[in-house]
Order: sequence, then C-alpha cells, then structure tokens
Amino acid sequence: MTDLYAVIGSPIAHSKSPRIHAEFAQQTGEDLCYEAIFAARDGFAEAVAKFRAAGGRGLNVTVPFKLDAFALATERTERAEQAGAVNTLKFDDASALGDNTDGAGLVADLTGRLGFAIRGKRVLIMGAGGAARGVMLPLLRQQPASVTIANRTIERARALERRFGPFGLVTSGGYAKLAGSSFDLVINATSAALTGELPPLPSGIFAPGAFAYDMIYGADHARFEAHARSDGAARVSDGLGMLVAQAAESFFLWRGVRPDTRPIIELLRRS
Ligand code: ATR
Repeated sequence: MTDLYAVIGSPIAHSKSPRIHAEFAQQTGEDLCYEAIFAARDGFAEAVAKFRAAGGRGLNVTVPFKLDAFALATERTERAEQAGAVNTLKFDDASALGDNTDGAGLVADLTGRLGFAIRGKRVLIMGAGGAARGVMLPLLRQQPASVTIANRTIERARALERRFGPFGLVTSGGYAKLAGSSFDLVINATSAALTGELPPLPSGIFAPGAFAYDMIYGADHARFEAHARSDGAARVSDGLGMLVAQAAESFFLWRGVRPDTRPIIELLRRS
C-alpha cells in the first residue's frame, strides 16, 4: 500500500514540499504519496489526529506549528530538543518521533553540495530567533573555530550563547560590536528581508574567501547578496539548497533512503 505523508502549516498553498517529496519518491523508487494540509491556528492536534487515523506515516511541520509539533511529539531527537522546535514527525502505532532537520539541511548543503568545510572556520550567525536556534547544534557539531551570534535584541543572542556554550566556542552581542572582526562564514538567519531590510552589519567583516549564506528562501535575497558581495564575500548562496536538503533529511528519517538533492534544486531553480 502507498504510504501517506504530508506537510502541515498555515498558510500552506505555496509550500514547495509536495513537489520536492514527489521528486524524491520518483528518484528513489519509494512508494509514497505526499499532500499539503492546511490547519487552523488552534487546530493542529486535531488535524494531526485525523491524518494519523487515515494512515499517515509522517509530517513536515512549518509555520506556525513547529512548537505545537514539539509538544505533540512523544519522543524527540537531541537536535530537536536543542532546537526547541520540531519540523518533522514520524508516526508509529503509539509513538510520534519529533525531529528537526533544518540544521542538518544547512550543514549538508554547505559541506556537501557547496563544498564548504565548516570545521575550523569563524562563523557569524545574524539573528537569534527560531531559525538561528534551529541550526546551532548541527553547526557546532562541525567543530567551527567559533560561532558568533549577532542580534538586534542583544538579550536574545545572549540566551542562545548560554544555551549552546557547552557545545563549542560561542559568543554573542549586537551588530556594532562586530566592527573590526572578520568571519569565514556569515549566515543570515534573520527575517529582515521580509520587510525589505538588512541587518545593520558593519563593513569589513568578510574574511578573504568568505561565504555568505542566506537561510531564508523566498524572501528578497538580492539585497543581502549585493551587500555581501560589495563587502568582500567570495561566495553567496540563497536558502533553496537548505530547503531541499532539510526535506531530504526528513525523507531519510522516514524511509531510510537519502535522495540526491542536486537535480531537484536545479529543477526548482529552473521553474
Ligand atoms: P524566526 O523563527 O524566523 O527566526 P523570529 O523568532 O521572529 O523568527 O526571529 C526573527 C529574527 O530576525 C530575530 O533575530 C530578529 O531580531 P530581534 O530578535 O531583534 O527581533 C531578526 N530581525 C527581524 N527583522 C530584523 C531587522 N530589520 N534587522 C535585524 N534583525 C531583524
């Protein structure tokens, strides 16, 4: 019988997940069907129960339900626990395993497809919200020389430093404090682009050969890219690769098969 999976969110109509997972299934020969489910803001648990009753085996969870999914999970992976959010659920008869594949997706895209080794590098993360928190542990597991968290609201950056300090060299502060420092990898985990803005980065922070990575795909990437290039970044990437790679991690959790993300990224880029 064809196994059933879905992405759940609100809104959900523009989600690329059904397309990505259909391509994964075709590429790997896995027999599955993948849908998109819209749930009302207070209707997450009910929608999940209905999906499970219909035989659903796993869910991708997107805005605004990643915390609801964290609460609903009966077991969680360490990376979901540290991210404080769940973007993937895997169901068995009695259990619901909660995972978070965002950070693994970022790391896989950078170190795999883009060929950028994180080990020993100086990393700057802009932003200290859920997106930043979700990638901290997988990044630190790559053993960078340091991870600096810069945020407009300094206390939120400090809170992430306290949480993740035990996993590596983590420092935090406001943007102005970055002046005079330089980084090999600069990750934009802010939602500034949604309002057409850029985080207030001082100039001169990109080390020779630096990589600028914009985690959020779909928002206006052009401003960040232009700023990073004019300030000396050697390479720039938007978050499409991470989007496909985090989906591939979910697919692997569910099916035990790892799809090749490259052809799907190219396909989405073309369309
Ligand atoms: P998400 O889950 O996407 O991370 P969030 O928790 O609302 O969403 O966090 C958004 C992040 O983008 C925060 O780090 C926010 O900074 P503050 O904590 O100071 O609010 C950051 N952000 C949003 N707009 C920004 C802007 N115009 N300039 C700089 N940072 C911005």
